[in-house]
Amino acid sequence: MSKRYGIVYMGSKEKILDTIDYIFQREYQKKYFIDLFAGGFSVSGFALQRTKFEVISNDINPYVMGLHREILSGGQDLEQVKYDWISREHFEAVRDNPEKFDNWYVGYVLNVWSFGCNQKDYLYAKDLENDKKALHHAIVFNDFTLINGNLIFEGLNIPETITTVDFKKYPNTKRLAFMNCFKSFIKRQEGYTSYEQLRRMEQMENLSQMIHLGVIKRNITHLDRLCLFEMDWKELYNGLDQNGILNDAVIYCDPPYEDTKQYQFGEDFNYEEFWEWFRNSPHAIYVSSYKAPEDIQPINFALKQVNLDNGNRSNERITKKKKAVENIYWNGKGNPSPTFLDQLFNI
Ligand SMILES: C[S@@+](CC[C@H](N)C(=O)[O-])C[C@H]1O[C@@H](n2cnc3c(N)ncnc32)[C@H](O)[C@@H]1O
Repeated sequence: MSKRYGIVYMGSKEKILDTIDYIFQREYQKKYFIDLFAGGFSVSGFALQRTKFEVISNDINPYVMGLHREILSGGQDLEQVKYDWISREHFEAVRDNPEKFDNWYVGYVLNVWSFGCNQKDYLYAKDLENDKKALHHAIVFNDFTLINGNLIFEGLNIPETITTVDFKKYPNTKRLAFMNCFKSFIKRQEGYTSYEQLRRMEQMENLSQMIHLGVIKRNITHLDRLCLFEMDWKELYNGLDQNGILNDAVIYCDPPYEDTKQYQFGEDFNYEEFWEWFRNSPHAIYVSSYKAPEDIQPINFALKQVNLDNGNRSNERITKKKKAVENIYWNGKGNPSPTFLDQLFNI
């Protein structure tokens, strides 16, 4: 599943879309797909592109939903700012005073410019910020003023074939070509005192994340089948029409991970209430999670994948794969169509 459907996002399901596809196959007769914790949009986007579902995409974080809205509506405002360098000072001003900025802008700054997309900490360490900024200006604007004034880059020569490429037209080509050349320069510095510092500059995360934003714009169509919301999951669920929507819907949940304080929103997430709702709702609900209360059993994907493995892999690799599989829990409601895997493993 090489195509991407969402932005770079902490906890993104981009890598397990095959598993999500299994849900689509079971529930293809439904009309609505409700993604209650949409985050970086990968599952909602995948549903739009891969199925005929009407997609209801929701997340309590108004900034990230604002960013999706901005991108999906053409991204003109984002285009005006996305090449700018965002300093630590500006990042913190946006993070601490979000009400002073547009929601989509807060979503952009806090996702693209935060460490590990954690929406809280600035992307680059304090001692790297100026060096990264110098690289950013050289790659994006072909402006070498900061590189030339910085001893750590002494001896770095980027050929004209690369500097003349217009970043705005060919962002990925320019970034990759520039960084390859820069990495060769770093290798040549081995043994010098600057070497370790330079090695920490081998990636320009802000540029790869910024380029990845274009994915949604390019890969997502069928917007007439999409509705975006920024509500608490329970409020949205309670507000949806029982006969018109919920009876003909498959509900997908990817809530924040338990035991970790990670998202800007959802730190006080009530897991007990959530699982109680999962048990009692009369509608088909699927949950991606690493854990659940003891009485709730996952659909056993790890078993399916290991049993279907062709046996060429070493045991160690199979174990690694098993560990990487996130569980899917189904509340047993609705009337899904058994897939080939369901029939094979008698689910
Ligand atoms: C694991 S992430 C979802 C990732 C998403 N499936 C993807 O592929 O990018 C969990 C999301 O739950 C959201 N969230 C936390 N509490 C929420 C609530 N009460 N209602 C709705 N969304 C909530 C967070 O903002 C976060 O984006």
